[in-house]
Amino acid sequence: MITGKPLLTSEQIHKKVAELADRISQDYHAKEIIAVGILKGSFMFFADLVRAIKVPVTVDFMVVSSYLKDTSTGEVKIHCDMKEELSGKHILLIDDIIDTGISLNYIRERIISRMPASLKICILLDKKNRRIVDVPVDYRGFEVPDEFVVGYGLDYDNKYRNLPHIAIFKGEV
Ligand code: IMP
Ligand code: MG
Repeated sequence: MITGKPLLTSEQIHKKVAELADRISQDYHAKEIIAVGILKGSFMFFADLVRAIKVPVTVDFMVVSSYLKDTSTGEVKIHCDMKEELSGKHILLIDDIIDTGISLNYIRERIISRMPASLKICILLDKKNRRIVDVPVDYRGFEVPDEFVVGYGLDYDNKYRNLPHIAIFKGEV
């Protein structure tokens, strides 16, 4: 069941995405970015964000999972890896949410081992209180409470990703 009132409305999300894209466009002035989206959760945020970034962007993706329904397994599985040559490039890693930090930390180390010129991390949502591994986040949309959230790409058991807003999920009935 999802709670009736959105935690974040689609208007709030789009305003924040525009702000993040402006900051990113300024910070990467005269540079090119390889934007790496972590699927599936980031697909909507990724699409909206790269569309609003004003410097040249190449896109790439990784398909990763660490969650079984609403519980983190702590084990990160890579189902599909990036295809682009990353060495000497400016990488912007884009994900939906950071929770324990285990997934992003793992992905970050994997990218660093491929010798990019720089690596920055952009996430829409931060569940700060749940962090186990400290990961440097450069661009953050919203801090959210320790609740399971769905919508705007985020899922419970692969459902609710298509909601245009973000809502709190209160367990199956
Ligand atoms: P972490 O490794 O614990 O930081 O987990 C990060 C990943 O778990 C995210 O990229 C999401 O795919 C998923 N995740 C964490 N919290 C939530 C949530 O509240 N709703 C949906 N997915 C979540
Ligand atoms: Mg994810």
